[in-house]
Amino acid sequence: MKYSGIIVSVLNLLFGLLLFWGCAAKITDDNNTSNPVVPDKYAVPLKVVATFPVGTVMSLSTFSNGPALAIVKNEFSSVTCENAMKIAATQPTSTTFNFSESDSITSYCVRNGIRVHGHTLVWHQSLPAWLTAFQGDSAAWENILKTRIKTMLTHFKGRVKSWDVVNEAFNDDGTLRAFATATNSKTSMWAQKLGKDYVARCFQYAHEADPDAKLFYNDYGQEYSSAKTAAILAMVADFKKRGIPIDGLGLQFHTNIQRSDADLKNAISQLSSTGLLLHISELDISMNSAQTFTQPTTTMLDTQKSKMTAIAAFYKTIPVLQQFGITFWGISDANSWITNDWPLLFDKTYSKKPAYFGFWDGLKQ
Ligand code: XIL
Repeated sequence: MKYSGIIVSVLNLLFGLLLFWGCAAKITDDNNTSNPVVPDKYAVPLKVVATFPVGTVMSLSTFSNGPALAIVKNEFSSVTCENAMKIAATQPTSTTFNFSESDSITSYCVRNGIRVHGHTLVWHQSLPAWLTAFQGDSAAWENILKTRIKTMLTHFKGRVKSWDVVNEAFNDDGTLRAFATATNSKTSMWAQKLGKDYVARCFQYAHEADPDAKLFYNDYGQEYSSAKTAAILAMVADFKKRGIPIDGLGLQFHTNIQRSDADLKNAISQLSSTGLLLHISELDISMNSAQTFTQPTTTMLDTQKSKMTAIAAFYKTIPVLQQFGITFWGISDANSWITNDWPLLFDKTYSKKPAYFGFWDGLKQ
């Protein structure tokens, strides 16, 4: 009797210790974000899990960044040049083109079986000084526009099969970006010099230069501005009526963790109603727009993760033939154009973040 009581006490003690160790181990795992236990399934790269191209951006600096280049090669099946194909990078003077950076990136991608999406032919930003200072009549401006589009498409023909022809032509209130107004400070020299219909002419020039290229209109804000979305839909309807060639729409999706999933889904579904190709073209989900944090919290990382899942899973619900792909605007948080933030799939040490696993899960759904 005496002995059995001691045995029961010892067993209780052992049981209690086991329970304590179990809980302690669990607590350690949950909090250990630097070295979480990652299920094996996530070793399958994004481009293999995805049923559509998954992209990122490259710059010349990517070539000298080993971890970043390894991620491009392993995970992605599409690349957009972050800046290398913009006017400032490709037209150093009014009479010359420079393709050194854009050719290096394109050749690398072609060699590695990665699609290159052209970005961007006509934009109100990234303008070289010679262009902003240019004095000429409307015919001279038209010639600059036409020459740029034709030269770019001819040079990359067969290697770059899709282009953001015009980027960000509309203001958030749905008006065409042209002169500064009380609510819009960003102006477009193109609209000012060439008139309202310049967007349509850009598509015509691009089609003439490369009839096989897929031509996109790319913009941001469709997820928060119904006026801008309406303007884009009206433009597409007008182009269809007039026989202006357009193949696709880019939704940049520079978004944040406060944006509701419903807003993001609504933008995708409204634009998919056009029947055109849809490219989520510059995805990043910022968490620190107010610059109040020095580190992301677990809740922030989890919210970003679930938004990545929602975007990938919802994108898969649009008709397969319209799924041009989802492109991230950066490789890791160390390379993002958004500083002091953590908007991408890989952290500053190039490790997979919860956002990566969330996006992967969404692709798999
Ligand atoms: C950004 C680049 O990421 C930056 O490096 C550059 O300084 C400015 O442009 N919309 C676009 C992209 O279409 O071309 C922009 O890229 C981000 C916003």
